[in-house]
Amino acid sequence: MCGIIGYTGHRPAVPLVIEGLRRLEYRGYDSSGISFIQNKKLEVIRAAGKLKLLEDTLSCMEVSLATTAVGHTRWATHGEPTVENAHPHKSFCGNLCIVHNGIIENYQETKNFLSGNGFEFNSQTDSEVLANSVSFELKTPGTTILEAFSRALQKATGAYAVALLSPDDPDTIYAARHSAPLLLGIGAGEHFVASDIPAFLAYTREVVFLDDGEIIKITPNSWEVFSLYDLAPVEKQVKIIEWDVQSAQKGGFRHFMLKEIFEQPRAIKDSLAGRLNPVTLDVNLPELDALPIPSHLRVIACGTSYHAGLWALPLFEQWANIPCTVEIASEFRYRDPLMHQGEAVLVISQSGETADTLAALRVAKEKGCPAIGVCNVIGSSIARESDITVFTQAGPEISVASTKALCCQMVVLLLMSLYWGRKKGVVADQLLKDCAQGLLTLPTQLESILPSMREEAKSLAWRYASCRGMFFLGRGQSYPLAIEGALKVKELSYIHAEGYAAGEMKHGPIALIEPDFPSFVLLPHDKHFTKTRSNMEEIQARRGKVIAITNPLKNGFEVRADNVWTIPEAWGPLSGFFFLPALQLFSYEAATYLGKDVDQPRNLAKSVTVE
Ligand code: M6R
Repeated sequence: MCGIIGYTGHRPAVPLVIEGLRRLEYRGYDSSGISFIQNKKLEVIRAAGKLKLLEDTLSCMEVSLATTAVGHTRWATHGEPTVENAHPHKSFCGNLCIVHNGIIENYQETKNFLSGNGFEFNSQTDSEVLANSVSFELKTPGTTILEAFSRALQKATGAYAVALLSPDDPDTIYAARHSAPLLLGIGAGEHFVASDIPAFLAYTREVVFLDDGEIIKITPNSWEVFSLYDLAPVEKQVKIIEWDVQSAQKGGFRHFMLKEIFEQPRAIKDSLAGRLNPVTLDVNLPELDALPIPSHLRVIACGTSYHAGLWALPLFEQWANIPCTVEIASEFRYRDPLMHQGEAVLVISQSGETADTLAALRVAKEKGCPAIGVCNVIGSSIARESDITVFTQAGPEISVASTKALCCQMVVLLLMSLYWGRKKGVVADQLLKDCAQGLLTLPTQLESILPSMREEAKSLAWRYASCRGMFFLGRGQSYPLAIEGALKVKELSYIHAEGYAAGEMKHGPIALIEPDFPSFVLLPHDKHFTKTRSNMEEIQARRGKVIAITNPLKNGFEVRADNVWTIPEAWGPLSGFFFLPALQLFSYEAATYLGKDVDQPRNLAKSVTVE
């Protein structure tokens, strides 16, 4: 989604803001812009396309005197990605400009009203309307910028993170949030506002997370937070961000996605730390004790996080003995669902800002249902609005394609089902022991196999990346991994890929089978092996090509296929932690082979803060 960075301090603001925008590129964008005040004049420079174009324009200008600036990367919602629609948007009177993330739902009514009052517009955006709405409020004599900003925002419905710059108050940035992430960075003689931490992490780790309905005012030497409604001061806590710039950089890898796939062993270790005792093998998740063990669990998420929920469903049912359903957030939120007494919702989100997941969480809470969040970002909206949150400890995930976050979600969900199961006394000692020992050895094992797995993924990608389409098939816990494999191929290489439950093939999809439409069949040595192998043979009987992803050969588990990709065996559900990176690496290699923009696939954004 769009990115915001604002700076006021003692450094040249323009290069700093451009650098901040670069660190937000992973969120996805199609145009960018910056505004700054120099010689008391408000400058706005914008470009359609990549940031480089904005930099090229700026390179012809003298900008070194500006020490206050706001920048924006835009992911188009209202109007095409043109220069006119790019942010910042200046008001008609030229007395301020704003950058805005989110959607102002009632912008058309406001635009009509402002047009009737002599305002003119240069873009198709809702954001320009907001800029003019503030400008209109300023027309009332004696009104301060803060007051005008607050009044305009109170009239706006929808979602926003918005920052405002005015030559009438040249060292100050005003910003506000409602249903879109925004945070304040505190430095010495300098302050930052941004939609995500990496934007200013090179300068400070001291952060204040804003809540909905708050406005901030920052100058080089001060920061203040107010209620958006009555401008009463709000006390905020300063948090220290533990991760550093290094962990938000590529670290020698060609792409963030590759780096993040290879970070999975470390991410698993971090997600287990303090939760799985390596000596007693006990699981400890004290955050869960704040709520009674639910009698029914409703997992809600989007995209890859939804796949994590599907993967964990049998664990909640079989290990924790909790009936469980898994739903797509964008469906749940509009369904007026019936909730059971004793039920809890479990919302899973890497970013903690996904609009549909957040809305689903709110729907459940309105119905009196307690909410448990599984999140990767401390201070995110979902983390704050959930009654309890279990953090996944994946570290910053920059690539749009979610990889290590899913791996950590799987670890955390598995630990949760063990924890609840143990508390209920329904997890046998032997199961806990086998699982715990398997988990503790996972990071080292995974680390040692990733390089060769990548080589195998590369050779398969080169062979199959030009196909018309492909299936990813699995049963049981391999089914969510199969649909995840298909999602990754779709989003990164734009190849038509379908993930299916292997048993469903004969109910329709098998009609697609032909030599140019191969099937990747997930065949771990589990109780589903024989059935899935039969489904695979049904495909082969129709001349379909098959890539079988399976464990090392042993009696009773023979496989004949066009390619047999052997993945080390792991205990029970832990095999998923080896199959998952294989699929991730295949999609990565296919996308790079086809020359696609791996970290920023077309039409996608990292954090989907619109419905
Ligand atoms: O931040 P979230 O986990 O809530 O994001 C959910 C989806 O938008 C996300 O997983 C998306 O599907 C990824 N692009 C998949 O790689």
